[in-house]
Amino acid sequence: MLRFFTAGESHGEALIAFISGLPAGLAVDQSFVDRELWRRQQGFGRGGRMKIERDTAHILSGVRHGLTIGSPVSIQLENRDWKNWRESLPVAAGDATLHKVVASPRPGHADLAGALKYNFPEARYVLERASARESAARVAIGALAKLFLRELGIEVLSHVVAVGPATLPQEISWEAIQNLYNQEEILLNCADPETEQRMKNEVDKVLRTGDSVGGVFEVVAHNVPPGLGTYAQWDERLDALLAAAVMSLQAVKAVEIGAGISAAAQSGSTVHDEIGYGAPDSFTGFTRTRNNAGGIEGGVSNGQEIRVRGYLKPISTLRRPLKSVDFATRQPVSAAYERSDVCVVPAAGVAAEAMVALTLARCALDKFGGDSMGETLRNFQGYCVQLKNY
Ligand SMILES: Cc1cc2nc3c(=O)[nH]c(=O)nc-3n(C[C@H](O)[C@H](O)[C@H](O)COP(=O)(O)O)c2cc1C
Repeated sequence: MLRFFTAGESHGEALIAFISGLPAGLAVDQSFVDRELWRRQQGFGRGGRMKIERDTAHILSGVRHGLTIGSPVSIQLENRDWKNWRESLPVAAGDATLHKVVASPRPGHADLAGALKYNFPEARYVLERASARESAARVAIGALAKLFLRELGIEVLSHVVAVGPATLPQEISWEAIQNLYNQEEILLNCADPETEQRMKNEVDKVLRTGDSVGGVFEVVAHNVPPGLGTYAQWDERLDALLAAAVMSLQAVKAVEIGAGISAAAQSGSTVHDEIGYGAPDSFTGFTRTRNNAGGIEGGVSNGQEIRVRGYLKPISTLRRPLKSVDFATRQPVSAAYERSDVCVVPAAGVAAEAMVALTLARCALDKFGGDSMGETLRNFQGYCVQLKNY
């Protein structure tokens, strides 16, 4: 069973990610993992931290001579900013007068709910873990899930559909998303240059006004075989698993599969994807005229591209802060401000790719099993033959 979790705080010494259950014999390309980490740090509208960080994955266990060995993989990502926080956030008791208090909870953050829950007098420890710095750890192990999926021919990428009101007018092909991935500079990761310019204008606007902006990304999983996930139990449905995985990312407030949101306002005849039979594709001879289902029907992948969209609220930290209350005095104040991004839609898309890849890898391993890549691939190929002969 593929399991993973993360540890680490925003200004602690390091982030740690664990993944257990990858078959032995998977080739681990360190430069690929690091490029994924770099992609998460890009995009117009990021704050100062991205200039400090430049993440690299330090693999501590589970990989030897470039291959997984079946034991849990743990990865450390150094927090380069740690040196500036050593004395104010030490592991030992340290000097309490050096502590950097978050004196007033920031609306839209976990600050108030977390302080109440854990009975903290202020929000420093809440912010440290609730921050999206944590998503870097997910991207590191998500990269391993992507390398595993590649062995099965499955690729997972994302692109940006909207920043604030600036929205892509058309659906984007897999090839266009691949072209975006190959670029060495990332502005807003939008496949249409004219829309990307409008998106940039939205970010410029909030940079000028001390505000922030949200948006929509789309993750596309290409060449996914039919049969991942199942309708047999509610918590094994692929759509439910993907929705939870993407929703778990910081600032994602809605998840859409295929045309889910607009479909609610349409009639069945304009939504459902008619079935034909003809030119064999990579898995079967069944064809579809369109893909409004986003590649999943009844909680099972149907052989079409999986398309999952994440809707991000605007960033919560504002240079022109909203009203809040001082934790100690209960008097009205402006919410605390810490260095912040104003737009993170491309980066959130990269983190969501990781979550989608981890979810698909888990479902693929549930279906095909295998303790070594040879065994997994043999099982997978046997299933592909079954599909071809169907
Ligand atoms: C990649 C990424 C980077 C983020 N950077 C910031 C940031 O710099 N400042 C900020 O206020 N929120 C940022 N967020 C969003 C917050 O982490 C998030 O809104 C907050 O933790 C509250 O959690 P919730 O929105 O899931 O309720 C970021 C989110 C992502 C996905």
